[in-house]
Amino acid sequence: MSEVPVIAVDGPSGVGKGTVCKYLAKKLGWHLLDSGALYRVLAIYAERLGVKLDDERALAQLAYSLPVTFHVSDDSELVSVWLDGDNVDDCLRTEETGRKASMVASLPAVRDALLARQRAFRQPPGLVADGRDMGTVVFPNAEVKIFMDASAEARAQRRYNQLKQKGVDANIAALLEDIKTRDERDRNRPVAPLRPADDAVVLDTTTLTVEQVLDRVWSIVLSKLPLAER
Ligand code: DC
Repeated sequence: MSEVPVIAVDGPSGVGKGTVCKYLAKKLGWHLLDSGALYRVLAIYAERLGVKLDDERALAQLAYSLPVTFHVSDDSELVSVWLDGDNVDDCLRTEETGRKASMVASLPAVRDALLARQRAFRQPPGLVADGRDMGTVVFPNAEVKIFMDASAEARAQRRYNQLKQKGVDANIAALLEDIKTRDERDRNRPVAPLRPADDAVVLDTTTLTVEQVLDRVWSIVLSKLPLAER
């Protein structure tokens, strides 16, 4: 029996993986794994329990038993995340939580502890997996691997526009600095560093509109999964 198909979408912070993955999951009717959310929730949980963000052993233990649930709407548009019975959507996506997630994600024992949990998302009819190491470590035999990239400046500008749209005050220089720091940590960590898998299609989105990105992604998927439904 062939395995449940996986589309692995990797890339740095703010490159638009979330938009692409939701689009694919909705179009194909497949499951969605937001692996970054697991690292984010772990960072929130650790803070809540007073565990230091560099205490590898304690964090790995928390990761094994992380009481997190994802509620995904039927059209994959809305994902709400619950930690131990509390909705954590509000603090999940903040820059601060992202920074802390990047710290816990650099610890090998934490990554190991979250491996089985991520693989358990591979359920019929298929999985769209969003992260940094989906194509290299978590699903090395994924049918489709896409690595999205864009300049740090373009990503900071997109994040700035997003925050402004939500009415949140933001400083573009600070956002850019933050993105660069996180890139540096994600790309240079010894375990599962951010890099394209050898067999990934690399898509640079610096000068593309959202529609152009979605079009190209869909063409890539069709070229690798010829039976994908329209
Ligand atoms: O995609 P995101 O911004 O929600 O991810 C938050 C942090 O988690 C990011 O700095 C890197 C880390 N991460 C990771 O190391 N591996 C993944 N598969 C997903 C996220």
